[in-house]
Amino acid sequence: RPPVNIATLHRMKAEGEKIACITAYDASFATLVDDAGIDMVLVGDSLGMVIQGHDTTVPVTLNDVIYHCRAVAKGLYRPFMMADMPFMTYSSKEQALDNAVRLMQEGGAKMVKLEGGAGQVDIVEFLANHDIAVCAHLGLKPQSVHKVGGFRVQGREDAAAEQMLNDAKALEGAGADVVLLECIPSALGTRITKELHVPVIGIGAGPETDGQILVLYDVLDITAGRKPKFSKNFMEGHGSALEAVKAYTEAVKARTYPAPEHCF
Ligand code: KIV
Ligand code: NA
Repeated sequence: RPPVNIATLHRMKAEGEKIACITAYDASFATLVDDAGIDMVLVGDSLGMVIQGHDTTVPVTLNDVIYHCRAVAKGLYRPFMMADMPFMTYSSKEQALDNAVRLMQEGGAKMVKLEGGAGQVDIVEFLANHDIAVCAHLGLKPQSVHKVGGFRVQGREDAAAEQMLNDAKALEGAGADVVLLECIPSALGTRITKELHVPVIGIGAGPETDGQILVLYDVLDITAGRKPKFSKNFMEGHGSALEAVKAYTEAVKARTYPAPEHCF
């Protein structure tokens, strides 16, 4: 099957085929998740937690993400590769452009992801005007953990839900190609997915988003300590990492993941 691109993702949304996404941080796992049928791979700044052992994603640098992108890009053939812009690498338009270009040219990323709402509209527009594919990450934004005071479900109150929907529309209007929603009530995930034209990928955002994403190490039950409510151990009942990621891909496609116990 040919490599996935933005047009593929839009077609999948239009046809109602769920987009199966996962994180990866090295070439070996990149090849494995490609073999397992994953459509899109994120080199996430979650690497700060699962690879580097930090409590948050805040310490991750652009060079860290580039290093892992280079490894992942070597192992991927079919999946679309997206890279996270780390904390404070997109605080101005010019800085965001310089750093997005580095993720693409040095890392091999095809799309960059940044966390933000209305405050990031100008930056998304600037990147989009320079022909950079952008994913806007809304809802729980792990880079803001110290400002918010922990990782918790976002958009529960009506005003916050309304704001998130408006932010999502504004980001789409600014040229975001994909929107990612983390840790929000399912009803809000459904609403945003229906109102946007671009593909919406969810993590803890309910079953109705156009695709799902999980951290690879949660799927493989490697992550130490407390697991997020939305994650699922796909090693259960499967004899290998490849079989587990295949099971995850198939569960997303078949809409059996996420189940109600994974949702808010
Ligand atoms: O860094 C990451 O892995 C992410 C996903 C959880 C969406 O941003
Ligand atoms: Na991230």
